[in-house]
Amino acid sequence: MSPQQKALILLEKQGKFEVGSRSIPSPGPGQLLVKVQSAALNPVDYKIQELGIFVEQYPAVLGMDIAGIVQEVGPGVGNFSKGDNVLAHCEFSNDMAAFQQYTLTDASFTAKIPSHQSFDSAATVPLGLDTAVTGLYGEHFGAGITPPWSKIGGDNQSKEPIVIIGGSSSVGAYAIQLARLSGFYPIIATASPSNEKLVKSYGATHFFDRNLSGNQLKAAISKVTDSPIRIVYDAISLPETQHIGWELLAENGTLILTLPATVKEDEGKGRKAIPTYGAPHVPQNQELCRGSWAMVEHWLSEGTIQPNKFEILPNGLEGIIGGLERMKNGEVSGTKLVAHPQDTQ
Ligand SMILES: NC(=O)c1ccc[n+]([C@@H]2O[C@H](COP(=O)([O-])OP(=O)(O)OC[C@H]3O[C@@H](n4cnc5c(N)ncnc54)[C@H](OP(=O)(O)O)[C@@H]3O)[C@@H](O)[C@H]2O)c1
Repeated sequence: MSPQQKALILLEKQGKFEVGSRSIPSPGPGQLLVKVQSAALNPVDYKIQELGIFVEQYPAVLGMDIAGIVQEVGPGVGNFSKGDNVLAHCEFSNDMAAFQQYTLTDASFTAKIPSHQSFDSAATVPLGLDTAVTGLYGEHFGAGITPPWSKIGGDNQSKEPIVIIGGSSSVGAYAIQLARLSGFYPIIATASPSNEKLVKSYGATHFFDRNLSGNQLKAAISKVTDSPIRIVYDAISLPETQHIGWELLAENGTLILTLPATVKEDEGKGRKAIPTYGAPHVPQNQELCRGSWAMVEHWLSEGTIQPNKFEILPNGLEGIIGGLERMKNGEVSGTKLVAHPQDTQ
């Protein structure tokens, strides 16, 4: 029998999670086999279980974000070695998912972890950062802003304001940090007042309570800047936040969304609402995300990108079940939940 590992398995569409056993896969060309030390939870994980979206093959292993230790290097991979500490963006595929003890990763969307960062901290990065990247810089799934790491990019957005709705969310935190890197100013973000300090630590220059109405927020922002708001990144993208974002947006502006659009694109004003898709593996994102993943080790090492705050869940893979429930109930604020698959009983 091939070597076995423990995995959190979603038994059937919209069914129950159960800890079980499955084979440890072998890396193919361009892949790594990684021993998963930390796996972070994302809203998509409970949405797959609740709504039956994205995944077609069951039993399924879920989870998008990992950090761990390279066990085996697949053919054609030159920049990683056995024993490297890495973070990676997983896929909707059982052999490439986070909620298990070993996973395959695509070397293009894997980066080394600088020595001062923990596995837990690094695991909070992949999906949130990629979604901020594709939303801001994607030609297909985003506003098409020139990325700051490209030669002609950088300060080209300087003195342009940006509004980020949901600055304490995982995606919002990375959107703020990339907005800072792109030279936006002011960077205006909303969240609960208890998260003001956190959101400002990411680089927001101005903070407003998420409970303000669109009109109240517009009035408050008009005291901060008289420049038109051409970019709003709505990391939350519920109908009510999209409505607020739309109210703030100037003519020809872009509302970047993390969920499908509920606002109607308007006549004459040229405003766009663009749902992003933070998967680096899809053809539309590959080139862009190869560029950002080539920066990840440097960004983490220099502190240019600060990972999310995190909380460790108890009981290894089993603990993910309760963590997803808390996320679904809106009980997690400004924090990424992280599990330790190797601690599974
Ligand atoms: N399209 C894609 O590829 C993609 C990728 C990743 C995520 N997503 C989606 O993007 C959304 C955010 O994901 P995430 O991982 O960033 O979520 P998260 O970190 O779990 O979000 C939790 C945060 O949401 C904030 N929040 C909730 N309602 C808010 C509101 N009305 N205004 C402002 N902030 C609000 C809370 O802020 P406070 O506690 O401060 O109130 C909390 O800190 C989810 O719907 C997710 O499914 C989409």
